[in-house]
Amino acid sequence: MKVLITGSQGQLGSALIKSKPSNTKIYSMDRNNFDFLDITSCLKTINLINPDWIINCAAFTNVDMAESNKETVMKVNYEAPKAFALEIKKLGGKFLQISTDYVFNGQKKIKTPYSTTEKRIPLGIYGLSKVYAEEAIEEIFKNSPQGIILRTSWLMGPVGRNFLLTILNLHSTNKEIKVVQDQIGSPTSSFSLAEICWRLIKLKNFNLIFNKNKNKILHWRDNGETNWYEIALMISNYSKEIGLIKSNTKIIPIKTYEYPSLVKRPLYSVLNCDLTKNLLSYEGKDWKVCLREILKDIKLDGNDSYSYKSRV
Ligand SMILES: NC(=O)c1ccc[n+]([C@@H]2O[C@H](COP(=O)([O-])OP(=O)(O)OC[C@H]3O[C@@H](n4cnc5c(N)ncnc54)[C@H](OP(=O)(O)O)[C@@H]3O)[C@@H](O)[C@H]2O)c1
Repeated sequence: MKVLITGSQGQLGSALIKSKPSNTKIYSMDRNNFDFLDITSCLKTINLINPDWIINCAAFTNVDMAESNKETVMKVNYEAPKAFALEIKKLGGKFLQISTDYVFNGQKKIKTPYSTTEKRIPLGIYGLSKVYAEEAIEEIFKNSPQGIILRTSWLMGPVGRNFLLTILNLHSTNKEIKVVQDQIGSPTSSFSLAEICWRLIKLKNFNLIFNKNKNKILHWRDNGETNWYEIALMISNYSKEIGLIKSNTKIIPIKTYEYPSLVKRPLYSVLNCDLTKNLLSYEGKDWKVCLREILKDIKLDGNDSYSYKSRV
C-alpha cells in the first residue's frame, strides 16, 4: 500500500512514519517537497505518486498566530486539503483528514463528551478553517467511500511544538509555571493517534465506516478527562521520578482569564470516541499511561534541551 503523509516532520507525521506497518510504502512530504501554499505543484506530486491513501497531518496549528494570518491559514487548512481530496477522489485513492476539537466552542450547558454529529461552532480562525475543510471533505466524499475525517484533541508527543515539551523546557528556566486549570479536555499521544490512523486505513471493511457513520467523522483521544494544570503536574512529577528534570519548579493553577491569549479556547472539549472504539474493536489507553510512554522516549541533552530518544 502506498501512503502519502503530509506534515511528515510534525508531531503526528513523525509518529506515523516511526510506526509504519509492514507492506506499506511511505511517501514522506514536508514543506520543502510539498508546500501547501503551492497547490498546483502538490497536485502534480499526488498524480506522480498515485497513492492508495493520503494522510493529511499538515496544518497551520498555531492557534494564536492564526488570528493574524487568516489568508495563509485558510489556504493551508482548507483550500489545499480540499484540492487534494478532489484529486485523490479522481485517482481512486482514499483521504484521511485530521481535524480538531477546536471545531467546537466548548460552551455546552451539560458537559458530556462531544459526539461526532454535534453542531460545529468554532471560536477562532484556526477552528473555522478546520470546519471549512471538514464541510468540503464531507461534500466531496458524500457518495463515495474514499474519505474520512478523524478529529483529535490536545496532541502531544516527543517531537514538535507541544505543551509537554514546553512544560519540560520551562523547568530549566522558571521557578514557577502558571497553568490554566479551568479548560477541560483530553490529551492525545501522537503515538496513540498514529496507531488509530494505521488501524483505520488497514481496515478491510473500510466501507463499513460509511454505513455506520453518516457524516464521515470519527473521534480519537486518550482515555480520561483532565485539565492543563493536572497534565503539567503529571509531566513534572513523572519527569522527576525518571530523572528527566531535577529542578523544583512549582506548577501553579490559574484561570483562563489570567492567561494572556489572542484567541478564546473551548472550556470543555472532550470528544466521544465510542464509534471509533466500536469500529476498531480497540479501547485505547488512559492519558496518564500514554504521557508516561512519551516521557520515557525523551532525553535531556547537554544543552539543557529535550529531544527524542529513538525506540530502536
Ligand atoms: N497539536 C494539537 O494539539 C492538535 C489538536 C487537535 C488536532 N490537531 C490536528 O492534528 C494534525 C496534526 O497536528 P500536529 O500537532 O502533528 O501538527 P504540527 O506538529 O504542528 O505539524 C504540522 C506540520 O504541518 C506543516 N505545515 C505547516 N504549513 C505547511 C505548508 N504551507 N506546507 C506544508 N506543510 C506545512 C508543518 O511544517 P513546518 O514544520 O515546516 O512548519 C508541520 O510539520 C493537524 O491537522 C492539526 O490541526 C492538532
